[in-house]
Amino acid sequence: MTNSLEAQLLELREEGKKAIAAADTLERLEELRVSYLGKKGQLGALLRSMGQLSAEERPTIGAIANTVKEALQNSIEQQRAVLEGAKIQAQLEAEALDVTMPGTYRPQGRIHPLNGIIDKALDIFVGLGYTVAQGPEMETDYYNFEALNTPPDHPARDMQDTFYLPDGNLLRTHTSSVQIRYMETEEPPIRVIAPGRVYRRDNVDATHSAVFHQIELLAIDEELTFTDLKGTIKVFLEAMFGELPIRFRASYFPFTEPSAEVDLQWKGRWLEVMGCGMVDPNVLKAVGYDPEVYTGFAAGFGVERFAMVLHQIDDIRRLYASDLRFLRQF
Ligand code: DAH
Repeated sequence: MTNSLEAQLLELREEGKKAIAAADTLERLEELRVSYLGKKGQLGALLRSMGQLSAEERPTIGAIANTVKEALQNSIEQQRAVLEGAKIQAQLEAEALDVTMPGTYRPQGRIHPLNGIIDKALDIFVGLGYTVAQGPEMETDYYNFEALNTPPDHPARDMQDTFYLPDGNLLRTHTSSVQIRYMETEEPPIRVIAPGRVYRRDNVDATHSAVFHQIELLAIDEELTFTDLKGTIKVFLEAMFGELPIRFRASYFPFTEPSAEVDLQWKGRWLEVMGCGMVDPNVLKAVGYDPEVYTGFAAGFGVERFAMVLHQIDDIRRLYASDLRFLRQF
C-alpha cells in the first residue's frame, strides 16, 4: 500500500511537471493547477486515500505528498512567469512603431481663391485696427433696405432684386445690413469689417452669380472725413493689388452721401472695384446716432471680382465648380 501510494505521488509529480512545462497559455496553466492542486484535484484524491495507511506510514507519505505539492506549485509559478513574460513581449512587438515604414499619403489641401481673398482683406483691415463682424444671410427688409435709407418705392431696389421668403423676409443682397446690426448694439468709435455671402436674383453667366461674397467696411467716429475714406481705401488696395493708380468717381448709393465708385488701373484699363461713401445722416439716425456729432465712411466690394482680377479668372462659375484641376493652381 505504502509503496504504491508513494509511487503514485511521485508519478503524479513527474507527469504534472511535464504537463505544466508544456502549458502554452495562462488559461491552460490555470486548468492544470485546478486539475492537480484544486479541491477536487488529483493530489487531493490521493491524499484522501491516506486514510487506509497505518499510523507509522502516514507521516512519511504525508511528507512526500507535501514535497509533491510544493514541486507542482513551483513548476506552476515558474511557468506562469515564463508565459506572462512572453505575453508582454508579444504585446510590445504588436504595438511597436516602426518609424522606417512608409507613411500614409494624404493630398495636401489648398486655400480656395475666394477664402484667400477674404483672409487677406481681413488681415489688412485687422492690421488697421478693424474688428470682424458678421450678420445673418436671411434678413429682414428693414436691415437690408429700409434702415439703409432705401424705402420700399426706392428705385435703387431694382438693382438689388433678391429672393423673398414666405414669411416676408429675404436673402440679403449685400453685407451693408451688417452695418445697421453692428451700430445698433455698439457705440462709436466703430471700425468693422464684415465678410459674407450675399444673394441677387441674377441670371448666372460668366460675370454673374445668384450667390456671391462681399466684404463691407464701416468706420464711425467724430470728425471722420472723405479724406480718411480715401486714405483707408488707398492703403487697402495697395496692400491687395500693389501700388497701382486708383481713382474715385462720383456715384450714388442710398446709404452714403457723397458716394463714389473706386477704379483701379489694371493692365492698362480702369476697373471698377468697389463702392464707397460717407455714411448718410439718415442711416446714422436709424440707429440712434447723432449725425451732428458723428460722421463715418463705408465701402463694399465683391470678393469674386477681386479674385477674378488678381488671378485672371475669365468665368465666375469656375470659382464654384470645385474642379480640382482649376483649384490646384492656387
Ligand atoms: N452695398 C453696395 C452693393 O452691394 C456696396 C457698397 C457701396 C457698400 C457703398 C457700401 C458703400 O458700404 O458705402 O453694391
